[in-house]
Amino acid sequence: MAFEFITYGVVDRIATITVNRPDKLNALNDATMTELGLAIVAARKDKTVGGVIVTGSGRAFVAGADIAELRSKKPAQAKAMASKGQKTFAAFEQCPKPVFAAVNGFALGGGCELALSCHVRLASENAKFGQPEVKLGTIPGYGGTQRLARLVGRGRALQLLMTGELIDAAEAWRIGLVNKVVPAAESVVDASRAMLTVMLANGPLALAGCIDAVGVGLDEPLAVGLAYEAALFGTLAKSADFKEGTTAFLEKRAPGFRGA
Ligand code: COA
Repeated sequence: MAFEFITYGVVDRIATITVNRPDKLNALNDATMTELGLAIVAARKDKTVGGVIVTGSGRAFVAGADIAELRSKKPAQAKAMASKGQKTFAAFEQCPKPVFAAVNGFALGGGCELALSCHVRLASENAKFGQPEVKLGTIPGYGGTQRLARLVGRGRALQLLMTGELIDAAEAWRIGLVNKVVPAAESVVDASRAMLTVMLANGPLALAGCIDAVGVGLDEPLAVGLAYEAALFGTLAKSADFKEGTTAFLEKRAPGFRGA
């Protein structure tokens, strides 16, 4: 697949999407957002892909929406831009395969929002996170006000949103914004591959079930989420993978999951 502002490749069942506008710190112009949407659909559809890593080239993960493009937007255009970005990022969040953000540097504004839409976030020790939109006289438009508060709580989210200040990877880990901090001397993409590989040894239907149940449950009252979980648990009991996983345990051997 040919892209202009991202690269896309699949190795050992892992699709890597790299935002590749390093001269603009990977700022998300409209074309880059379109390409991100195409790439996540491709990864979702490709049966050889078990999981996805999103990262950035150069010294940034993504330094936000492209401010040069954003500046001239009229209200209806700005709203359409936010809706398109939200739809694109929802496709990352709702992907039934695990999606990792390997945050190699600045994850600001739309970059932080892209990371928030991924299922797991690993950060290089050098990474910086923030929602600096207030400094531009606006608010996040790609889900930042919603997902950040759900992840780190209302108070911490409002602090980040209203100061616009950047935090380092250690602070991002302390407040639960990232799952793990990777030493600067090590590759955050390699660390993501390692954790993703552990996940990919498990059944694809079970992984998709975890993503689905957590995603649905976070938007619903507990009783609804629990009912959803029980229904999925029932559905998975019909799968060949469930039979294989339980049989392999009892036979003291490694399971061979097929995603069926
Ligand atoms: N949109 C458009 N261009 C951006 C950008 C963005 N969000 N972030 C960085 N760039 C561009 C810069 O304009 C500069 O381009 P130029 O070389 O053509 O002038 C290039 O990327 C390098 O950025 P620069 O600011 O020179 O690097 P720095 O190391 O001094 O600062 C940041 C890095 C991330 C602190 C700074 O670029 C920044 O604050 N970016 C905007 C972050 C932001 O507000 N994001 C939310 C957007 S809604």
